[in-house]
Amino acid sequence: MNYIEEQEYTKRFDLGLWKHLLKYAKPYTKQLILLAFIMILAGGVDVVFPLMTRYAIDNFIIPDKLEGLPLYALVYGLLVALQGFNTWALIMIAGRIEVDLVYDIRKTGFKRLQELSFSYYDKTPVGWIMARMTSDSQRLGESISWGLVDLTWGFAMMTGIVIIMFVLNWKLALISLSVIPFLAAVSLFFQSRILKGYRQVRKTNSRITGAFNEGIMGAKTTKTLVLEERNLEEFKVLTSDMRSSSIRVAVFSSIFYPIVSALGGIGTALALWYGGSGVIAQSISYGTLVAFITYTIQFFEPISQLARIFAELQSAQASAERVLSMIDTPLEIEDPPEIKAVYGDVFNPKRENWEPIKGDVTFRNVSFSYKDGETVLENFNLEVKSGETIALVGETGSGKSTIVNLICRFYEPTQGEILIDGIDYRKRSQLWLQSNLGYVLQTPHLFSGTIRDNIRYGNLSATDEDIEAAARLVNADSFIRKLEKGYDTEVGEGGSRLSTGQKQLISFARAVVANPKIFVLDEATSSIDTETEQIIQNAIQKVLEGRTSFIIAHRLSTIRSADRILVIVDGKVIEEGTHRQLIKKRGYYYRLYTNQFMEEEEARIMRRNKSY
Ligand SMILES: Nc1ncnc2c1ncn2[C@@H]1O[C@H](COP(=O)(O)OP(=O)(O)OP(=O)(O)O)[C@@H](O)[C@H]1O
Ligand SMILES: [Mg+2]
Repeated sequence: MNYIEEQEYTKRFDLGLWKHLLKYAKPYTKQLILLAFIMILAGGVDVVFPLMTRYAIDNFIIPDKLEGLPLYALVYGLLVALQGFNTWALIMIAGRIEVDLVYDIRKTGFKRLQELSFSYYDKTPVGWIMARMTSDSQRLGESISWGLVDLTWGFAMMTGIVIIMFVLNWKLALISLSVIPFLAAVSLFFQSRILKGYRQVRKTNSRITGAFNEGIMGAKTTKTLVLEERNLEEFKVLTSDMRSSSIRVAVFSSIFYPIVSALGGIGTALALWYGGSGVIAQSISYGTLVAFITYTIQFFEPISQLARIFAELQSAQASAERVLSMIDTPLEIEDPPEIKAVYGDVFNPKRENWEPIKGDVTFRNVSFSYKDGETVLENFNLEVKSGETIALVGETGSGKSTIVNLICRFYEPTQGEILIDGIDYRKRSQLWLQSNLGYVLQTPHLFSGTIRDNIRYGNLSATDEDIEAAARLVNADSFIRKLEKGYDTEVGEGGSRLSTGQKQLISFARAVVANPKIFVLDEATSSIDTETEQIIQNAIQKVLEGRTSFIIAHRLSTIRSADRILVIVDGKVIEEGTHRQLIKKRGYYYRLYTNQFMEEEEARIMRRNKSY
């Protein structure tokens, strides 16, 4: 939740940011200019209507004549039609700009999210990202198009009114507008308070969203820990904060709007008083007086809206800051331009320039720490020949996943280098490596879609036969066939309808379909049932053929046939060798193995006893 609050910006107006935003509006320059033109036109037409009334009063009503009425009616009709057209055009154009802008922002954001490395996701809550991609980009598009419409229209109209008032009768204009200084003072006083209130509301609102997010994501944990009451208490505090700041805004608004109206009323009264005496003295026409009164009323209308528009633009600014902070997040792992030039990037890979991969992996004096974390690896060295099967064992937190994450270049070494086929992998593109790599993550992820789709993601040109062959190879075929719709079963969001073990098997098949040169299996820590576990074990043997493989197994029986077993303690290899060698050595591995073996035996005996 801290993250969300920290990201709540409080700057009043940030010119630099809006300039930056203009970059995104640039493709719409033409439409925006057209829009501005139409709005100025619309404001102009608004200003002409009272002049029409004035003409009618002075030329038809007062002299009681009808001469020239048809032409007048025609002009009036045309003006109405023009304004109708303006309104239609601006809804069309602003609507289009809004939709296109939101689309652009989301597309850019989505693209960025694809490029960002693992470390970004380590520190950014999913809820935060979701909010940026949905409500913030929406609000941004909305206020850029509509907020600006309101603002320009209002501004054009007010300018027009002032000009015409002065042209018609500058003294009367000065008198009617004499309330403006008061208006300015009152507006400044209230608007700054209302804005501050809006900011407070928004800030609390984002905390409430955060709390919702936690409440939803953690619902299961909450229930098991019986934390419902505590969560509810916290939530109550937040919502009551929200309530009191909302009320404060409402109170200020409820005082501000009547004051604006009252000032408008005073302006109108002044116009009426001075103009009225002018009419009696016959220095001002009736029509001019009526026009003036209409103008004064019209003039104050946009002002009372101003607080709302500013609040909207303010919140758009906050949205913009958050969206842009996401879109502009620097990539921690980025291919330099000269490498991109040769290898292409994720969206335009130049596969024709890619060297074939052999599969040698070397760690040379690698040190690594996660962002603001302690050092996980220090001066780590490892040489793996193409086709070798390496097993990593060690206690939880010893650094096994970190080592394979580094191989995959999900993270890069803080010091030292990792060589693939003898060349530092940073000298080639990320995609080059990752296209040659199959990784079954410790926390496997499935995409929404069918099981078949999910396996196919490994290699989009795989046929149905390829997919089923891969599934058979990893022994996933039998459980898939038992599902109601077999390979066409929808896996649900994140694969929530399958067990972790089943998800791993599917990811496993996905990796096999990709036919990678380097293969990584990070076995799920969460208890996989022994049956699935056995299945995975058998599958491993078949898959490793001809690939450089890294297997992290929690069940040591899985890795007995590995070419080399590395025992990792605190990021260091403390023992190394084949299963046989390590057992003979009677060291750490031997103890680990015998303990696990005994535990398993015990469990088996217990189970057997229970069933009697
Ligand atoms: N994304 C991360 N951000 C910060 N620290 C991390 C991150 N992932 C792991 N660590 C830390 O790095 C150390 C090594 O973790 P790692 O995940 O490599 O262990 P592991 O051997 O894979 O453990 P397990 O058997 O539980 O999977 C731990 O101290 C862990 O807290
Ligand atoms: Mg791990």
